[in-house]
Amino acid sequence: MSNSEKYMKLEDEYTLQTYARYPIVIESGDGVYVTDADKKKYLDFAAGIAVFALGYNNRELNDALKKQIDLIVHTSNLYYNEPAALAAKAFCEVSGMDRVFFTNSGTEAVEGAIKSALKYAYSKTGTDDHEIIAFEHSFHGRSLGALSVTGNAHYREGYTPWEGKVKFAEYNDPDSVKALVNEKTCAVIMETVQGEGGIHPAQPGFIKGIRKLCDEKGLLLILDEIQCGLGRSGSMYAFEQYGVRPDILTSAKALGCGVPVGAFAMTQKVADRSLTVGDHGSTYGGNPFACAAVCEVLRQFKEKDIVSHVRRLTPALESALDELQKKYPEKIKERRGKGFMQALELAGPAAPVIKESQKNGLLVISAGANVLRLLPPLVIEEEHIEEMKNILDKVISAT
Ligand SMILES: Cc1ncc(COP(=O)(O)O)c(C=O)c1O
Repeated sequence: MSNSEKYMKLEDEYTLQTYARYPIVIESGDGVYVTDADKKKYLDFAAGIAVFALGYNNRELNDALKKQIDLIVHTSNLYYNEPAALAAKAFCEVSGMDRVFFTNSGTEAVEGAIKSALKYAYSKTGTDDHEIIAFEHSFHGRSLGALSVTGNAHYREGYTPWEGKVKFAEYNDPDSVKALVNEKTCAVIMETVQGEGGIHPAQPGFIKGIRKLCDEKGLLLILDEIQCGLGRSGSMYAFEQYGVRPDILTSAKALGCGVPVGAFAMTQKVADRSLTVGDHGSTYGGNPFACAAVCEVLRQFKEKDIVSHVRRLTPALESALDELQKKYPEKIKERRGKGFMQALELAGPAAPVIKESQKNGLLVISAGANVLRLLPPLVIEEEHIEEMKNILDKVISAT
């Protein structure tokens, strides 16, 4: 039995079987490559699902985390801590939001965002029967609140605590949103670029129209940038490219580059009438270790100008994928995406392409049955794009 087989067997025996995992046991990572327990190396165009923006085994991040471990890892939110204070300032500066709450995951950031919007509406009206508009094919997480605004009926089946309180509109269709607004509506929640739903960027007119609608009707706009945020789209947050600003923003994934941390943040206008002392909390949320990661990640984004790097290399990534689409028009229907969040919509299932890519040393993932999703670390160079293209070329020609 190989090392990989040994660990897979243990997981299969003892963990709750909620994941259909690929048969790879990842042991270590360096830059844009990971290595499995049997020493096979893979070029990683998934980055832990849009997490490892700055590359694996990032020396400065490792050092910052080690330094924090030797100081203190956890304090609880009963006391102040230095990394949380510095991370809050840095986060508000990069996001343009006024107040932030750090969470342990993206899902919890969405929960906090929803609670903030509901509390804001409650403080305005004194009633708590408000509705939220979300979108078909959206993904916001697996807890009961986040699931309630996730536009995938299959994920919600069996757990519908907010049935009737959340209405689902069609993404990129402003009329479908307008049709759902009533006197109970308090917020619209959307991904600026839909990720799990198949990599669909919002059209500029759509997102501007939603912002306008929210302003006219007094609704809060919650933008979920958990997957598309932090440089991946070619700007720090994707909403910057549309000239809109959300009332509430969620962020996670690359925020800790592997350390579990998320955030929901809001404008002062929302904060003034929303969550206050005793309304929300988390034992771990914003702990010194997680916030040391946030500080160092945001420091590197600035120092290395990661956003400009993504913008500079996006044309190379897009044309590599376009070349594949042109070469195999009967197998690849479309390329779409924004920045380093790209998709190839295939004519058939993505699973065999993913499997064969793995055999050839490339990690890519799916976003729906027929969509191949590419979320490389933001520090890839042209040579990695070339390597990815050559492997996909070989795999697609054979599958
Ligand atoms: C847009 C979006 N929102 C929320 C989540 C949930 O984040 P997490 O898995 O960190 O809880 C995800 C995860 O994929 C996501 O892509």
